[in-house]
Amino acid sequence: MSLSTRKDHYARGVPLFNQRVEVGSFSLDSEHKFIHDKSQMRYYVEPDQVPNFDLRDGYNDRYVKRDENFKKGLTHVLHWILANKSNLKKRPSSSLASDVDFVTSRGRLTKVLTTPYENLSSWLLAVTKFQGILYINEVETEAARIARNNRTETHEENIYWGYKFEQYICSDTIDGSPDSSGVVNSNEAFYTVVQTSLKDHRLLFSAEVDCRDKANTSDPPACYIELKTAKNILSNNQRGKFRRFKLLLWWAQSVLVGVPRIVAGFRNDDGVVESVKTFEVNNIPKLAETEVNCWKPNICMNFCCDFLSFVKREVIEDDPRVVYLFSKDPCSDVTYTVHKDSSYSFLPDWYVNEMI
Ligand code: A3P
Ligand code: MG
Repeated sequence: MSLSTRKDHYARGVPLFNQRVEVGSFSLDSEHKFIHDKSQMRYYVEPDQVPNFDLRDGYNDRYVKRDENFKKGLTHVLHWILANKSNLKKRPSSSLASDVDFVTSRGRLTKVLTTPYENLSSWLLAVTKFQGILYINEVETEAARIARNNRTETHEENIYWGYKFEQYICSDTIDGSPDSSGVVNSNEAFYTVVQTSLKDHRLLFSAEVDCRDKANTSDPPACYIELKTAKNILSNNQRGKFRRFKLLLWWAQSVLVGVPRIVAGFRNDDGVVESVKTFEVNNIPKLAETEVNCWKPNICMNFCCDFLSFVKREVIEDDPRVVYLFSKDPCSDVTYTVHKDSSYSFLPDWYVNEMI
C-alpha cells in the first residue's frame, strides 16, 4: 500500500480546517525540562524601522546550545497530556480517544503539509496506535543525521542568528524591554497545545511559540507572532526563491497553529538585520501565486488530509510496542513497514502505565 505524492492528485478544493483552539501551554527550562507553566512566554517589542541588530554578538561567549543528539520525541506533549488528563475528557468516564484521533507536534505536521513540494527530501514518521489514538513521531533519517553532524561552522552560526534575533525583539515581561546582553539558551522554549480538526481528523499537537503581541487582545493562538530571519532580497531571482521555498515553510508552520503574523528580520551577509517586515499568514499564498510553478495551499492541505486518512486506514494494531514506520524518499510515494519491540518504539512506559 502506498500514498501518491504527486501534486495533481491533490488539486481539489481546500478541506475544512477548523479554528485552532489553544487548550493549554507549557515551557521548557534552561535545561530543556518540561515545566507546566508559561514562564518562557515572551512579548514582542516592535523594533526601530532601521534596526541594525548584530546577530553575531554573543555566538562565542553567550550561547548555550541545546543538545541535538538528544531526541525528545513526543515526550513533552505526553507530559502535558498526563498533567491535563482529567480536563481533557469531556465526561469523567470518557477517554481521550472520544475527542482526539491524532497526537503529534507541529514539526511533524509541517513535514507532511509541505511534502508535495519537497520532491528531493525524505522523511520517516513513526506511528503507534494506543487506546484508539494515533501518535505520530519523527525518526531522523540517516541522511539528515549525517547532514546535521557535518554542518559547517557558518551553518551553525546561522542557526544561532535565528535565536539571537528573537532576543533582540522579545522581552520577558509585558512592560519590559529586550535585553541583548544576556545569554541565548536554545533549550528554553514556550509551547502552545492546540486542538483542531482537518476535515474528519481530530488533532491535538504542541507547537513552539516565539512570542505574544501585547497590543493584540485576541485569545491565543491569534495573538502569537512567529519570528524569522532571512537574507536580504536583492534581486528578482532571490525574491522568486524566497517565495517558492522559504514562504512555503513559513506559511505551513504558522497556518497549522493559527498564528496570524510573521515578523521577519532581513539580514546582510555579516549577520546584521537591516530591516524588519511583517507578513500576514493568510496573504502569503497570494504572494507566492505571482511566481511561476509555485506552491498552492490546497495541494498541501489535501495531501495532509489524505495522509492522515491513509494512516487511519493502515494502522490497525492497537499496541504501544508496535510502530508503523511511514517513509517518503526523494521523488517517491509514501510507503510503510511494521515493527514490534524495535528501536522505533517511542511511547514511554511512564506514559503507557499512567494511561491504562
Ligand atoms: P529562523 O526562524 O530565523 O530561521 P523557528 O523559526 O521555527 O521558531 O526556529 C527558531 C530558530 O531556530 C531558527 O531561526 C533557526 O535559527 C534555529 N534553528 C534551530 N534548529 C535549526 C535547524 N536544524 N536548522 C535550521 N535552523 C534551526
Ligand atoms: Mg521562529
